[in-house]
Amino acid sequence: MNRFFPAYIPGFLCQTLTLGTVLAADEAPDPSSMKVPEIYAHYCATCHGANFEGGQGGSLVDGEWKHGSSDAEIFRSIAKGNLELGMTPWEGVLSAEQMRGLVIFIQEKEKEAQAKGIQFPTPEVGKVTKTTHEDYVFEMVVEEGLKVPWSIAFLPEGSKLITEKEGRLRLVSAEGELHPEPINDTPEVLVHGQGGLLDVALHPDYGENGWIYLAFSEGKREEVEGERRPKVSAMTAVVRGRIRDHAWVDQEWIFKAEPEHYGNAGVHFGTRLVFDDKGYLYFIVGERGGLEIAQDLSHPAGKIFRLHDDGRVPEDNPFVRKEGALPGIWSYGHRNPQGMAFDPRDGMLYATEHGPRGGDELNVILKGRNYGWPVITYGMNYNGTPMTSETHRSGMEQPVTYWVPSIAACGLAFYEGEAFPRWQNQLFAGGLKQQVIRRLRLIDQEVVEEEVILKDAGRVRDVRSGPDGLLYVVLNSPDCVVRLAPARD
Ligand code: HEC
Repeated sequence: MNRFFPAYIPGFLCQTLTLGTVLAADEAPDPSSMKVPEIYAHYCATCHGANFEGGQGGSLVDGEWKHGSSDAEIFRSIAKGNLELGMTPWEGVLSAEQMRGLVIFIQEKEKEAQAKGIQFPTPEVGKVTKTTHEDYVFEMVVEEGLKVPWSIAFLPEGSKLITEKEGRLRLVSAEGELHPEPINDTPEVLVHGQGGLLDVALHPDYGENGWIYLAFSEGKREEVEGERRPKVSAMTAVVRGRIRDHAWVDQEWIFKAEPEHYGNAGVHFGTRLVFDDKGYLYFIVGERGGLEIAQDLSHPAGKIFRLHDDGRVPEDNPFVRKEGALPGIWSYGHRNPQGMAFDPRDGMLYATEHGPRGGDELNVILKGRNYGWPVITYGMNYNGTPMTSETHRSGMEQPVTYWVPSIAACGLAFYEGEAFPRWQNQLFAGGLKQQVIRRLRLIDQEVVEEEVILKDAGRVRDVRSGPDGLLYVVLNSPDCVVRLAPARD
């Protein structure tokens, strides 16, 4: 008998199990070291099919659930089983983390199977796409000359600023001409992994003061003798400056971390820059691969910050009087948010966050709150190892929604224009990996409707509601800027 099997398996089931080749005692490896897909292959595929198509047990991807389709119900089905009908209770054999991993894996596969059945029209310039509430035409804004564009900001009179990840700030005229020369003298950016020149935003009073804000990864890369890899120390930073005669001038530092907070990881720099209606600046520093550091209030990683427009810390920030805490912190316990926007109706701040596999989140960001990473999460590790079965804990916030499979959430905007009346005040969330824009209608901070409105046009880096009422999208592969305009008959 397999040592991981409960002793009380009835005869008919034992027979099934010994017949099932993968469960033979000497073959089944120690499940504690197995990745979730391997656990499935060893313990579930005999009855539910290698591709989830079903067999002795039902299909797990046909959308039909005898015992419920929620995470909690599927978890219960796995843990408690149904011996009479031939479903093993896995509690005691598999850990809670592993069963939670299986829930994520099954949900992922079911969503993928469903998505295969849906034909989304391939976006083509000039072609009309029909969605539930609005039909749009896909228009090209900048087709050529950009390399890994990351973010877009709209200058008065119709011109635009676009960041390129490799460190260049580009200008596009109102007529749509990309200036051949990047803006001169922009700050030195350390291009490292996911880092580079990231977000660009205008001061709310840009018309009077001309301030432009840039967020980027900053630091040093040094060749070390005898070492194969250079020594890198990098961190997210924020500056402001002005543009005069096509050059970056008057630069001031808004946020620069202490030297001990710099690290060599090439991941999770965040970020976005947004202003609220009182003129406070919010920006994100991702957890820099440091996981637990997101819970440490003395370290800037894994936090959303709130500062005055000139970088001073507001007196009413939540941790100004907490000993050891960085006073600029507004919220913590974040992994790597890369979308942030204010709801124009009630001023609530929303952020989308790259979670682990199956754990991308949309959160309402509230003063001083803990968003739980890495203590609670809906996801597991990208390599398929389970993380935790804990999705809730008191004192930690729940997301408004989360995405399985992960969309690689990037770019977030409330639509505030007139061109699409039935999209007004709705949220548009980009997905890098899934190459999607999802439309979410929110009522009282709950998602009441969700729809994919764009798919497979490219990796979505940024989504913005343009001052002309059109919805702008910054894409990678192909590297371009497009917009959605209303379809006219
Ligand atoms: C020996 C065969 C067998 C094995 C092995 C097995 N299952 Fe099942 N499973 C079944 C059967 C039969 C049912 C239907 C039971 C019922 O109708 O209540 C079932 C039901 C389920 C359900 C509920 C489906 C629904 O419609 O609500 C889930 C979820 C599930 N299994 C997951 C798993 C996972 C995950 C594993 C591996 C850890 C696994 N099963 C291993 C036979 C098996």
